[in-house]
Amino acid sequence: MTSLIGLSGSLRRDSFNSSLLRAARSALPDGVDLKIESIAAFPLYNFDDEKAHGIPVPVAALKDALAGADGFLLCTPEYNNSIPGVLKNAIDWLSRPAADIPRVFGDLPVAIMGTSPGAFGTTLAQNAWLPVLRTLGARLWTGGRFALPAASRVFDEDGRLNDAAAQERLEKFVRGFVGFVRETRGSIHATESK
Ligand code: FNR
Repeated sequence: MTSLIGLSGSLRRDSFNSSLLRAARSALPDGVDLKIESIAAFPLYNFDDEKAHGIPVPVAALKDALAGADGFLLCTPEYNNSIPGVLKNAIDWLSRPAADIPRVFGDLPVAIMGTSPGAFGTTLAQNAWLPVLRTLGARLWTGGRFALPAASRVFDEDGRLNDAAAQERLEKFVRGFVGFVRETRGSIHATESK
């Protein structure tokens, strides 16, 4: 079984990005499990709090989940042409303490996706993630892109993707990422067992 962790960067109840992540989960090939995790319980990062109280329980749990996963699907909204604060805050917490970054993110296959009601569908937010993922040492999959515009038209009232062309693109995207995850994990295990 290939295990993926998915995060939506929106706390909104009817979030299009959370809907997109669920659509991605439904589009996965057999033998892949996508666990959708939440960042809703993460506090705002403050170094004083970290020093005094350590890593909050929900942060530590998600760090362990990422460390044990084969891949990470990051579903980002776009705010002011960049990364929304709540999602950056979450990734910043997950990068603490810095000495733990290789365990949590090192060589972790990551795909970025996102959707917005606008015309560009989170392209700029996705670009803004690139230096962050590079800094964390993750293995970004660059074999496909999924930025879905016009979110308020392509999702129905129940948050289901109801656009055939978008669905087809999504299936291609997730299949491509799963192939990359399997290849990457296979080559890491082969190197480790040498
Ligand atoms: C937005 N939105 C937005 N959309 C976009 O395509 N480009 C942008 O730069 C912005 N900027 C922006 C700033 C702020 C502060 C807010 C609150 C919103 C609109 C945004 O894409 C929309 O609210 C989505 O619905 C957010 O994603 P979720 O919550 O539906 O997943």
